[in-house]
Amino acid sequence: MAETLDPGARAAAEQKARKAARDAARKNEASDEPVGKKGIVPPWERGAEGIALVDTHAHIDGEDFEADREETLSRAKRAGVVAVVTFGDTMEASARVVKLAASYEPVFAGVGVHPENAFPFTREDDDRLAAWTKEKDVVAIGEIGLDYYWEKDEDKRAMQRKMFVRQLALARDLDLPVCIHDREAHGDLMTILKTEGRKNRGVIHCFSGSWEMAKELLKLGWLLGFDGPLTYKNAAKLPEIIEKAPADRILVETDCPYLSPLPYRGKRNEPAYVRITAERAAEIRGESLADFAAQTTKNACEIYGLKVGI
Ligand code: NI
Repeated sequence: MAETLDPGARAAAEQKARKAARDAARKNEASDEPVGKKGIVPPWERGAEGIALVDTHAHIDGEDFEADREETLSRAKRAGVVAVVTFGDTMEASARVVKLAASYEPVFAGVGVHPENAFPFTREDDDRLAAWTKEKDVVAIGEIGLDYYWEKDEDKRAMQRKMFVRQLALARDLDLPVCIHDREAHGDLMTILKTEGRKNRGVIHCFSGSWEMAKELLKLGWLLGFDGPLTYKNAAKLPEIIEKAPADRILVETDCPYLSPLPYRGKRNEPAYVRITAERAAEIRGESLADFAAQTTKNACEIYGLKVGI
């Protein structure tokens, strides 16, 4: 049946199926601790004096935030979040994040196509992305990269690589940072960053590699983004990596609506929860939340050129 659809419709249908699978995976995530049982105080009720955080990777354009986007941003503000960088993952989502950056003062945007939604990129697509980067508070090309976890088909992985390399080139042409997704594609990612991407700059978001890989990326000049999984009991190597990473190369992010930190795991994530990840990171590094927030916010402002009122 799928063969009878035109390529655009087929891509849209596949994209929808992947989103459904991802949503189902999120809902089925086993929660380490049920919400509310310990009387957890939400981040926006913990006081934000002296705290200035940036959620450096969010997706607030989608239907998950349709009903309460304004309240979500207001909760983030009360939790000490002074800016949110929201990323497009398709051309349609990129068009939406451009509008959000123009509409909401603390919102900045990145435009790009996520590897899960890879398609044969044309010159016209390059031009559309380039045009959007001229709009207000559009600060990066992203979310781009490689995802071999959701994509097992070799031809489609090749298409991901092609689209990734092309968007890296576009970012260099525009002199913009990139935000990179890498899931179970570490080898190919490193190869590309050492060749085509050697003159790019930016962030490996939701870093999931080893300390060895982190060291290589740091040597190449990249920043590393940390999210909710840092708070999980099976956080694996993340605590060690965030402890060892240089202070000026760390960013915190939510990747909302996915990857909620504890105790919200399995629920919708939102920018305010970046504070929970930051609190955990500060604890691991033996720093105060205020100092950790100030440093990571400085990092975010530098790499993305953000102007935030603190
Ligand atoms: Ni993302």
